[in-house]
Amino acid sequence: MSKPSKTWQEFEFSGSEGLVLSEPLIFEQTKAGREGFPIAVNEKLPPLSEALPKELDRGDIKGFPELSEPQVARHFTRLSHYNFGVDYGFYPLGSCTMKYNPKVNEYLAALKGFADIHPLQDLDEVQGMLQIAWQLEHWLGEIAGFDRVSLQPAAGAHGEFLGMLLIRAYHESKGELNKRKAVIIPDTAHGTNPATCALAGFDVVPIKSGPCGIIEVDEVKAHLDDTVAAIMVTNPNTLGLFERNLPEIAEVCHGAGALVYGDGANLNALMGYCKQGDLGIDVFHFNLHKTFSTPHGGGGPGAGPVGVKREVIPFLPVPTIERDKNGKFYLDFDRPKSIGTIKCFWGHPLVWIKAYAYMRELGASGLKQVSEMAVLNARYIQKRLQKILRQTCSEPCMHECVFSGADLPNELHTIDLAKRLMDYGFHPMTVYFPLVVPEALMIEPTETEPPEVVESFCAAVERIVEEAKNSPELVHEAPHHTYRRRLDEVLAARKPKLKWETKL
Ligand SMILES: Cc1ncc(COP(=O)(O)O)c(C=O)c1O
Repeated sequence: MSKPSKTWQEFEFSGSEGLVLSEPLIFEQTKAGREGFPIAVNEKLPPLSEALPKELDRGDIKGFPELSEPQVARHFTRLSHYNFGVDYGFYPLGSCTMKYNPKVNEYLAALKGFADIHPLQDLDEVQGMLQIAWQLEHWLGEIAGFDRVSLQPAAGAHGEFLGMLLIRAYHESKGELNKRKAVIIPDTAHGTNPATCALAGFDVVPIKSGPCGIIEVDEVKAHLDDTVAAIMVTNPNTLGLFERNLPEIAEVCHGAGALVYGDGANLNALMGYCKQGDLGIDVFHFNLHKTFSTPHGGGGPGAGPVGVKREVIPFLPVPTIERDKNGKFYLDFDRPKSIGTIKCFWGHPLVWIKAYAYMRELGASGLKQVSEMAVLNARYIQKRLQKILRQTCSEPCMHECVFSGADLPNELHTIDLAKRLMDYGFHPMTVYFPLVVPEALMIEPTETEPPEVVESFCAAVERIVEEAKNSPELVHEAPHHTYRRRLDEVLAARKPKLKWETKL
């Protein structure tokens, strides 16, 4: 961020409709001696400098801004307006499932009885928490068709990593790890798939999906031999398509001694309609922070539980949550084949509580409806926008749809369309991913958007495509009405400057 040259008195107007203020930073507003609120001096008490232990006295912080309370309140409130979140508007960031999450679940997770639990507390005092975790594991297993679930991983990629370690342990137990080093991953995979696979010590074998983006059985067969440990499949895949050949693929993989890993981060397209375990998947991860009521993003905390079929259960991380014959819950560390512990203190229980509450609120039929609405919204957008944007495949999408901006006129690109959407008050869709589609635009409306929002989003995209034909400079120079215009995104990501550098 460069130092703004303007001050309060020098408002900078930008664009015809919007007002963009270039506001002084908090460090520039400082006035020596100004303070938030005075602490009344009580003569009966010793001065603060004497009352506080010396090691806690930091003295002056050089350059610390000196401001009044309203200045501070306004500064941070204003900054919060610069942000865009799902509580503010439509956020169709494909592959991320940025849906609205009910606030009541945040309230429940913050209840003292949950939030104040200490991980080393006596198990007799936390039977309720253990019951929730145990029940959640069983419901997740039921929803996706797995015999056992571990709640430990902290995110989707972490779940994938655990899944890969479990697959390693499985092959090791059969004495085959030395030869089974390869994992087949299709070109439509989420980027975390090859990353976690490599981190777990496997070699990635990329394969091409078919012309429409669905994995083909013959392509898998062509890469399958006794060096393959597993295939990793995202279903629905990152093109938003159902991997309809999965049962056959699983059969040939199992026949060759390989396991099938399922990336279940897109589960909100399938709940109540299809159990992924029934398709032949052996190890699978859920993204609770996409599907089950924890916001996705901001670096967490999330949860990426892993479900497994019976043969993989012995390798699950310790401790597992068990219930004895008297109905009492306990943690079982005595599992000799376990891969060990994957997360300090066994995971993120407050995320589990939100997922548990969400499931109880919606019930089985409500979860099924979640999937219906997620798919319905995406298919509506697919139908509306396929008239104006290029589609690589006419196959009906599941929870998200992908277009290409390659046909945009006047040398405009996907990035221009995405930036212009911000002027219409929408968060842009995912761009340039999946990599198999040139100039990709990936739109995931989620189930929580009402039809009028979906409709106004489609209308905005239609209008931008019109603008691209008739006034391309408007699109090329967008956004016009945001606090900042186009930033050097590569520089911002690679060399972020997260603090103001004062010249002290
Ligand atoms: C298909 C898919 N797989 C894996 C992940 C990784 O999940 P996380 O971001 O929690 O690590 C995501 C994230 O959105 C995803 O969309």
